[in-house]
Order: sequence, then structure tokens, then C-alpha cells
Amino acid sequence: MAAAAEAAGADALSMINTLTGMKIDINTRRPVIRNNTGGLSGRAIFPVAVRMVWQAAQRVKIPIIGLGGIATWQDAVEMMLAGASALQIGTALFTEPYSPQKILAGLSDYLDKNGIEGVAELTGKVVPW
Ligand SMILES: Cc1cc2nc3c(=O)[nH]c(=O)nc-3n(C[C@H](O)[C@H](O)[C@H](O)COP(=O)(O)O)c2cc1C
Repeated sequence: MAAAAEAAGADALSMINTLTGMKIDINTRRPVIRNNTGGLSGRAIFPVAVRMVWQAAQRVKIPIIGLGGIATWQDAVEMMLAGASALQIGTALFTEPYSPQKILAGLSDYLDKNGIEGVAELTGKVVPW
């Protein structure tokens, strides 16, 4: 899909969206969401997002905006190492509205401690086995 979007002229990719989940009330035996299924976001999907960004980054040259479960500065570093050039934060804001500021501060500290000039140096720098 990433390669198809690039071939069709996309300037960048934003990934990932939610993964479809389902929750059932064991007493009523009814799905708790009226639509029966719904989008699962937040920390649970982070490893899937990292994997997908990493795979897509190996196939396309256009920049990837990484999202899906990012909640800490460590998550931000990880997502950039996987191949993201920029990040989005969604669900984390519901429980920690100041998470972007905390992530920025943590990222800045990480760059200083590791002698890295800018976050762009992190993009795609994972060293796969
Ligand atoms: C309340 C809510 C509404 C969302 N609405 C949309 C939407 O309208 N269109 C869309 O493409 N993604 C939508 N998303 C998905 C987010 O853009 C994002 O891809 C996903 O939540 C994963 O990131 P996160 O874990 O940081 O929230 C929504 C997510 C949430 C939690």
C-alpha cells in the first residue's frame, strides 16, 4: 500500500491508523460498541505501528509521519529509528495533555546526551539483525 501511494503521487505517508478491535460484555453478551467493532488506538498498537513504519520505510522514498501509540520520548525515538521523519500524537493526549511537551523535552535531552545534532539524524537508523 505504501508503494502504491508513492507511485500514485503521494508526497508523504501518515501511518498507522487504528487497528480494528472488539470488546464483548460477558454478562449481556453484547459488544460494548454499538458498531460491534471499533478502532483500537494507543499504546497497545505501538509495536505494530513501529513494524509497519519500518517495513514501509524500506519500500518508499517519500517521508513517513509515524503515529500509533506514541506516549513517551522513548517511543518517539523508537518510531524515528524505524523510519519516521515526523510524528503525531493522538490517544496519549486524552490521559496526558502535556505529553507533546514532555516528549519534546525528553527528545532534546536524548539528542544532547548522545551528541546528535537533530532528530533527522534518527530517521531510519535502526540497525536490524
Ligand atoms: C477519537 C479518535 C478519532 C479518530 N478519528 C480519525 C479520523 O477521523 N480519521 C482518521 O484517519 N483517523 C482517525 N483516528 C486515528 C488517529 O488519527 C490515529 O491514527 C490513531 O489513533 C493512532 O494514533 P494514536 O495511538 O496516537 O491515537 C482517530 C483516533 C481517535 C482516538
